[in-house]
Amino acid sequence: MDSIHIRGGVTLQGKVRIQGSKNAALPILAASILTKEPSCIRNCPRIADVYRMLSLLNSLGCEVSWENDGIRICAGNICSGDMPKEAITGMRSSLCLLGAMTGRCGEVVMEHPGGCVIGERPIDLHLWALGQMGVAFEEAGGRLYARAEELHGAYIELPIASVGATENILLAAVMAQGDTVICGAAREPEVVALCRYLQCCGACIEGVGTGLLRICGGRKLKGADFRVPADRIVAGTYLFGCMITGGNVFLEEAPAGEMGSVLRLAESMGTQCDLAQEGIYVQSVPRPILPSAIRTAPYPGFPTDLQSMALAVMTVGEGKCLVEENIFENRFRVVEPLRAMGADISVLDSRRVLVKGVERLSGRDTEALELRGGAALVLAGLRAEGETRIQGCGYIYRGYENISRDLRELGARIISV
Ligand code: UD1
Repeated sequence: MDSIHIRGGVTLQGKVRIQGSKNAALPILAASILTKEPSCIRNCPRIADVYRMLSLLNSLGCEVSWENDGIRICAGNICSGDMPKEAITGMRSSLCLLGAMTGRCGEVVMEHPGGCVIGERPIDLHLWALGQMGVAFEEAGGRLYARAEELHGAYIELPIASVGATENILLAAVMAQGDTVICGAAREPEVVALCRYLQCCGACIEGVGTGLLRICGGRKLKGADFRVPADRIVAGTYLFGCMITGGNVFLEEAPAGEMGSVLRLAESMGTQCDLAQEGIYVQSVPRPILPSAIRTAPYPGFPTDLQSMALAVMTVGEGKCLVEENIFENRFRVVEPLRAMGADISVLDSRRVLVKGVERLSGRDTEALELRGGAALVLAGLRAEGETRIQGCGYIYRGYENISRDLRELGARIISV
């Protein structure tokens, strides 16, 4: 099932339910090992990265089982902090086990984590911040050894509001002795979801959703029953799917409250977005009107994870738009394949491209080079004349439970092969 085939030209219509958030679920699953009591994590997406995280937790000694819409995890007896190589290297989010394992066991040995091919993705801030809390690191033979004699609270001023580093600090801080203050913390909804779960477990965290978090560490945590929020990036992908085909759809359970910048962009492009309690009604125009510029930024700014899909929509809009990427380098690898489909995109430098809208795209054989760029090619395929066949869709399945099924529900002619 590595390919997706699309016959373009269908206007999306109907309703689709938005899956649970990948980037919220993964750190929450890691957090569940901070207590010996069982937790039930509901609405986890059934995607490769979640299965990988579960097998990783299982190999550490956790009991893991799927129960109806939830995953029951019990970390009553975890001991060894030596994690299997395969699970770690393929998945960036396994990095949150660094904070969770040092919090729970005082030590961990892991490979340098992998992830999507969207830039270097250093982990210096994670190491530096945990170092402030008493964790000593050594690197040998490509492995990272982390050990804390006594984890203690610290005042940590993050120079970049890193999502992963904020999550790692939180995971260690709730277990540390004393208070931790994170200044310049990431405010992304996934960080908020992690805080909410930890609070349900009994942790004391103040300032949730702001850049200043205060954690009173050392409380005994208990198990919790928690529902992972819907995935704002998947919701945004289908919103853009609707826009690129000039469609009319209902995004059931879409987290409108977390999608302000995305909805504002859609509306500025002529799309009508009506918010209801159960989701978002989207009514788009045949050809979106391009804004003069968009730029990615930390939350509440426009998310880097939706930049490629926005770019795909813009290729068929009216006018021209400057797209600026400010979070990750290598986020423009999708430009070449989009150009091959007929898009008019000029690369100005490594962080900026200029898109001029064209009337039509043509279906092609093409390849997904990373997760979000792959999803952008699916959107381009929905609009393109003729057939688009995308190879390398393993990347796409890392973030979308079943993108072909979801888009078929909206009328698209698309299959996973
Ligand atoms: C998370 C998300 C990813 C999203 C990103 C930004 C997960 C699994 N992934 O990634 O989908 O695109 O947030 O919203 O949740 N940085 C450093 N040193 C570090 C850490 C980060 O320089 O130690 C830099 C990065 O290179 C990047 C910026 O900080 O330029 C933001 O990265 P960060 O917020 O950490 O992203 P991730 O947590 O990796």
